[in-house]
Formats: sequence, C-alpha cells, structure tokens
Amino acid sequence: MKRILITGGAGFIGSHLTDAYLAQGDEIVILDDLSTGALENIQPFLDNPATKSRITFVQDTILNPAALEPEIERADKVIHLAAAVGVQYIIDNPLHSLVVNLNGTESVLRLCDKYSKKVFIASTSEVYGKQTHAPLRETDDSHFGPTYRQRWSYAGGKMMDEFFSLAYHQSEALEVVVARLFNTVGPRQKGTYGMVIPRFVQQAMSGEPITVYGDGTQTRTFTHVAEVVACIMALIDTPAAYGSVVNIGGVEEVSIMDLAKRVLERTGSSSEILVIPYDEAYPKEFEDMQRRVPSTERLQKLVGFAPQLPLERILNDVVSHFELTQVQGQTASSVVNR
Ligand SMILES: NC(=O)c1ccc[n+]([C@@H]2O[C@H](COP(=O)([O-])OP(=O)(O)OC[C@H]3O[C@@H](n4cnc5c(N)ncnc54)[C@H](O)[C@@H]3O)[C@@H](O)[C@H]2O)c1
Repeated sequence: MKRILITGGAGFIGSHLTDAYLAQGDEIVILDDLSTGALENIQPFLDNPATKSRITFVQDTILNPAALEPEIERADKVIHLAAAVGVQYIIDNPLHSLVVNLNGTESVLRLCDKYSKKVFIASTSEVYGKQTHAPLRETDDSHFGPTYRQRWSYAGGKMMDEFFSLAYHQSEALEVVVARLFNTVGPRQKGTYGMVIPRFVQQAMSGEPITVYGDGTQTRTFTHVAEVVACIMALIDTPAAYGSVVNIGGVEEVSIMDLAKRVLERTGSSSEILVIPYDEAYPKEFEDMQRRVPSTERLQKLVGFAPQLPLERILNDVVSHFELTQVQGQTASSVVNR
C-alpha cells in the first residue's frame, strides 16, 4: 500500500484518480482548497466503510507551505493537479490564477525535490497554443497570442510549469513526469468554468439553447477521464518517462458545432443551437484555439497504451451521469417536500 498525495484531488480528474487508487488498495491524501472542486466529489469515499480509513482530506491551498510540506514529506508519490482552470475562471481571476499555477507548482516541485518524491505534473494541450496542424507532437513549437489577452496566461503558466519540471529533473534529478492533457471529460465535470461538454449536456437536458461560442468550426479531441487516470497512474511509475512531457489525448476530432448536434441527438433534446460570437461570450480581445489533435506516440512507447474511447461512449457516460444526478435531485426534493 502506497500513500499518495493528490493536490486538487477534490476536483473532476482528482476524484476519479482517488477512486482508482483506493480501488487498488492505496492510501490517499487530498489537499484541495475547494475553489473549483467540491467535497461531494469525494464524499462517497470518505463515507464508505471500505475506503474511509485510507483517505484523508485536507482543505487548504498549495500556496500554504505549512499544509503542503508535511503531506509531501509523508507521501510515497505526489500527483499535482491543483490549478486554476477553465477559460472563464482564468479570465475572471487573472492574478490569483497565475500565482497558483506558477508559485503553487514550483512549491510542489521544490518540496518533492527536498524529500525525493516522484511527482506527476498536469499540464495542458493549451501549451501548443494556436498551432493548427495535426497531430500535435511534444516536440512542436508553442504559438501564443500577446500577453494583454489574459486567456494565454493559463497556457503560459503551464508552459513555465513544464520548464520548472524539466529544470528540476536536469539540475536535481527529480523524478518528475509532465503530461499535457487534452480536453478530458466524464462524470462529475462541471460546466460552470467554461468546460464545453457538461455545459452543452446541461443546456440540452434543461431545454435551454445550446450556446456555441465562435463560429463552431473550431475542433477538439475529447478524452474519457477513466483513460486519463489510467495513463497518469502508469506514467508516474515509469522511470523512462521522468524528465519528459507526454501528451494524453483521445482519438476523435470533432468540431464544436458537430458536438452540439451530437449532444442534441444523444439527449433527444429539442433545444436550439445558438451561435454566440466570441466578443459577446468573453471579454474583448478573446482568442480561441482552432484545432487540437494529439499524437500519442510517445505515450504509447512509454506505457504501452493510449486512450481509445470514442466520443459516443464519452457522451453516453456524461449524459447518464446527468440523468442520475437529476433523478437523485428529484428524489431528494421529494423527500424534503414530504
Ligand atoms: N479537464 C481537462 O480537460 C484538463 C485539460 C488540461 C489540463 N487539465 C489539468 O488537470 C488538472 C485537474 O483539472 P480538472 O479538470 O480536474 O479541474 P478541477 O477544477 O475539477 O480540479 C482542480 C482542483 O484543484 C483545486 N485547486 C485549485 N486551486 C487550488 C489551490 N491553490 N490549492 C489547492 N487546491 C486547489 C480545485 O479546488 C479543484 O478541486 C489541472 O491542473 C488542469 O490544469 C485538465
């Protein structure tokens, strides 16, 4: 049994990772300030007699060394997911986002180095920026917009996290692996902070118009969270991956307009699709990325597998989750109303 610290473990990906590590018998410590995460994501593990003695939740920020340092010292390995995330959140909280994503990650790396702990760092496909060719390889250039466009601070911050990670590996022999996650989707993800699939599903299921930002021709390649979790768990235990940046991404490129249509089809909703120009959806000067398709060759070589689930399966799982939470919500309110 290993003791694993997951920063940001009460978030979407972190809660699935917690589930997977607990299922294989490990002990989990979650450090999370609940800024975008939620206790309800991990409450079932805190309540379950089979897991509650193997999970500890610390509500605190990675910016607090008094909380972070003892947990890193006690852990066998560290998965660093805590970050300011979501286009809308970054635009609304520009300074805080940079401080968390730069200073927070550097603290995690410094302490993992101090206590010789292997560490996984979550980066993002946004580091490729405005590149439009496919597939995107880890050796490709990054191409960002100007710094007055705040949306690039997320990509820029994560890029600096990659530089820090590689520098800690080169200078201090830190066992660190960085993964660039492409749009990761699955149950428990919220649409609140700009994540497109949960937002579309929520809109379709409540009969509201599905709001497509931009002209809808921009594409994404979505990845099922269960497959992302399997890749993270494999990468952190693969010594050949230390000192590398590795894409983790799915297989099916889809335009956002087609995605909206697929969500309508899957949910049977009669919602209309509303196209909203970027300058109405976001503050002036917003820029989006037109295309994002991963090469997973490096991942395959390192761990022997890569995500494969099609969009249909991803949408099925997200829609089923929404249906379930709606039923649970209705049951809860009927109990309250009785
Ligand atoms: N979901 C995706 O599509 C995607 C894509 C690329 C990269 N990533 C990266 O994966 C990681 C996890 O993202 P997610 O989708 O699960 O988002 P999430 O918002 O659900 O998870 C992030 C978690 O970090 C916590 N957090 C934020 N600031 C913190 C702080 N200062 N101290 C402690 N905890 C803090 C939040 O409360 C949340 O629980 C992030 O690093 C993100 O950048 C995600």
